[in-house]
Amino acid sequence: MAVSSPAGNGGVSGWRFTKCAAGTRMRSLRPGSALSFDGIISFERDPHMVSSSWYPDLTRVSELRAPRCRALAGRGTVPGCDPQRARRDRDALAALSPRPPRRAPDRRRRVTGGGRLRLSVRHKLTLFSTLVILVVSSGFTWVSLGLARRAIEEDLQNRAIIYAREVAAAIGGGRALESGPALQQLIARLLEIRTSVLQLDVLTFDADGTTLVASNEPRSQLSFNWSDAEDVQRGRVISRAVSRDKEHHWEVMAPITLQGAVAGAVAVKFSAQRSDQLIRRIQFWALTLAGVSLVLMGVLMTVAIQIVVDRPIRRFMDAISAAADDGAPAPVTVTTTDEFGVLAEHFNEMVARIARFSEELRTRIAEATGELDHRVRQVEQLNVLLYEMQRRLSHAERLALSGRVMAEVAHEVGTPLHSVAGHLELLRKDLPPALLSEDVTRRLGIIETQVARVIEIISRLLDATRRVPSEPTAVDVSTLVRDTAELVRPGLAGARLTLDVRAESGLPAVLGQRDQLQQVILNLLTNAIDATAPDGRVEMTTRSRPGQDEVEIAIADTGRGISPADRKHIFEPFFSTKEAGHGTGLGLFITAEIVREHKGRIELDSDEGSGSTFRVYLPALRS
Ligand SMILES: Nc1ncnc2c1ncn2[C@@H]1O[C@H](COP(=O)(O)OP(=O)(O)O)[C@@H](O)[C@H]1O
Ligand SMILES: [Mg+2]
Repeated sequence: MAVSSPAGNGGVSGWRFTKCAAGTRMRSLRPGSALSFDGIISFERDPHMVSSSWYPDLTRVSELRAPRCRALAGRGTVPGCDPQRARRDRDALAALSPRPPRRAPDRRRRVTGGGRLRLSVRHKLTLFSTLVILVVSSGFTWVSLGLARRAIEEDLQNRAIIYAREVAAAIGGGRALESGPALQQLIARLLEIRTSVLQLDVLTFDADGTTLVASNEPRSQLSFNWSDAEDVQRGRVISRAVSRDKEHHWEVMAPITLQGAVAGAVAVKFSAQRSDQLIRRIQFWALTLAGVSLVLMGVLMTVAIQIVVDRPIRRFMDAISAAADDGAPAPVTVTTTDEFGVLAEHFNEMVARIARFSEELRTRIAEATGELDHRVRQVEQLNVLLYEMQRRLSHAERLALSGRVMAEVAHEVGTPLHSVAGHLELLRKDLPPALLSEDVTRRLGIIETQVARVIEIISRLLDATRRVPSEPTAVDVSTLVRDTAELVRPGLAGARLTLDVRAESGLPAVLGQRDQLQQVILNLLTNAIDATAPDGRVEMTTRSRPGQDEVEIAIADTGRGISPADRKHIFEPFFSTKEAGHGTGLGLFITAEIVREHKGRIELDSDEGSGSTFRVYLPALRS
């Protein structure tokens, strides 16, 4: 699985990284090397190294090669595998992997939440109003039924009393109570006329008490007692309802008055069957009507609630749901003038404000995204430039190295060769002509030719490695310093360093080669960054020195400084205090050489432990 980098290097085995972001320092991914999980996590933490959209492709877990990675993939224990570490890695990896988007809650769900039934406002109102109607109408029905029953019973009682009085009056019309048989006939006639009369007794009062004179039911005794008889003797009418063995009837006793004195009484037993039937019929209709009106009122109430309450609420709900679906709440159309109308007005105002705010937000996000894209593109370009500069720097260092080697070779081999050539010439002069035979002359000639050839080869090699200066141009050092700072700036976020540039504008230009002068600044800047610990500061300053017709470039850092012993050697080739593989020891050597070629000079101020300042002075171009 390969990851492409701006330079095209970096095959990384085992994992695939999606979205190769701009600004990624691919130097960290060596060709063919496996990337550890710690590496992935630190990549994620370091925003410069990896953008937040980097994540390992989990589908490739099966391709993991490292033993602990295989344990992570759930393939069991492998020698050398650390299960605890693998678990930690897996958790970290899970935290890095993209989460599925959260689903919007379904607003149509009605029943949930700890098994509780959620009723809508409409249902609650309907239920509540039905309950109220039920209670109120049952109360009314119960009361009206009671009143009706009492009215019917009173009516029956009154009728019974009137009947008993009439009968008593009819019997007491003569001067004395008629004989038993005559009364018996009268009773029989009366009973025929009034079928609701079940029993009719005629009693007389005498000193011994009451005596039954005539009755249609002589064996059945009514419920009156002695005190009732006394009351009747005083002229009162006694009536009472009697319920016996589910049978319900009225008993009335009325006095019979003969010549102004109570002589006897009429006791009548009335059937309450008709009144009971009447009451049952009234009950039936009352309950039926109550039931029907309950249903009717329930239905009407539901419809009213639906129209007055539910419909506006539903409109609000729909508007809010629209906001949940696409983020923009919709206005509500409620035309009533009640509280819902006022609420809708305020709601719509709020919706309009939210819409305005969202629009503004969207515009700002678009602007910010555009700006971000622009910055990302800039960082991309700067990274490519930086990489190119670094490549060129190491190329230049290699060239300088070969030049230096060639110089050494020229010095070590060329000097003795020149000496050999000189001695050969002397030898030819010093030898007596007798000895200079044709053969000796030919051999000396061959030696001279070969030596000259070797000298020629060495000088050609030296020519090839010598820097060929291009045509010098006017260079604005302030712009050059600013550009170079932007080249390295992306790399500083990871190193947590502050880089300040105080480049004076309108400085006199410098005559020279822009590339080489940039290399000088880059060499000094790279050294300053390498020497400075996190949270440190590097500052680049340019200014003119009018008195001396010079332009000064100063690169200061708050790094570890340079010891007096090292200061003597830092400009020598191959002097480096950096770890093997990190420094060539040629940066300052080349810097000094380029500065010299530009007829400038370089100075160093350094306090061990508190930082260093390199100052380059270059002659200003006279305008
Ligand atoms: N700003 C600096 N602060 C501390 N030491 C420095 C600084 N610049 C250079 N040096 C020292 O000088 C040495 C030589 O630097 P240089 O010639 O650029 O070679 P290299 O950077 O490859 O080591 C460095 O190894 C370092 O010890
Ligand atoms: Mg260096």
